[in-house]
Amino acid sequence: MTTFDRITSLHTLPTLPANFARLISVLNDEQASLRDLEEIIRHDQSLAARIVSVANSPGFGYTGYINSLEQAMLLLGVDLIRSLSIGISIFQSFPLPPTVLKQMWAHAYSVGTMSSLLSRKIANADRGVAFLGGLLHDIGRIILLTLFPDGYSFRQDPEAIVPTEIERFQCSHAEAGHHFLKNLYVPDEVSESVLYHHSIDMSNQHRDIIACVYFAEGLMQILNTAFGGDGLWTDNHLNLFTVYGLGSKEIDELAAIVASQEAELMSFFKI
Ligand SMILES: [Fe+2]
Ligand SMILES: [Fe+2]
Repeated sequence: MTTFDRITSLHTLPTLPANFARLISVLNDEQASLRDLEEIIRHDQSLAARIVSVANSPGFGYTGYINSLEQAMLLLGVDLIRSLSIGISIFQSFPLPPTVLKQMWAHAYSVGTMSSLLSRKIANADRGVAFLGGLLHDIGRIILLTLFPDGYSFRQDPEAIVPTEIERFQCSHAEAGHHFLKNLYVPDEVSESVLYHHSIDMSNQHRDIIACVYFAEGLMQILNTAFGGDGLWTDNHLNLFTVYGLGSKEIDELAAIVASQEAELMSFFKI
């Protein structure tokens, strides 16, 4: 059985919430309203509570102000709320130790926030999609860890991560995440931003969304944060960043936001 076959069999994860299929249909429906989404979330109290908690993080600019699901939905809007709901539901569905999930979520959430902030500066990049791509970018690491609990090393030198995965599992975490998400009917822009988040040069469509996630993953390495992970900021990142008209001013802005949300992230999974 190949790693890809094993990923396909993960779709029967017993813990994927009952409302997940409905969330995905809302994600794929341009016409979906806040009311549709609110109805789904109301049936999952832990999801609703987490959305309110995340909505108060500095990345969204309403710190300490949001205290109900209604307020979160009104202020953040349908795009960000549905991305958050899907990201949280997927993370919660993996039966991994809470400490691992917490670390992965903190990194994912930081990259998601950065990616959504970058989408405001990159034409043609939808904020909700950029956010979801960032939240899910490393879901393949969680998948590989779930499939190979004894063989997948969580802590590795960023430069060695992808080559080691390919050598051991014939599949990188980017490919694993893409395969998993494709079978969940997540929109192509999201699954492709996951597939190319370490290799934008291989992509041939959805470049602007992929760029948001690619930059966000790379920036985690140079910003002084506890939630760095597997990214590298290379000359290729810098050159492309310049092509988009971005520079050190934007990097300083992102660094300030990421630093201010660290405390929030530590308490999110309450571990
Ligand atoms: Fe990655
Ligand atoms: Fe990452």
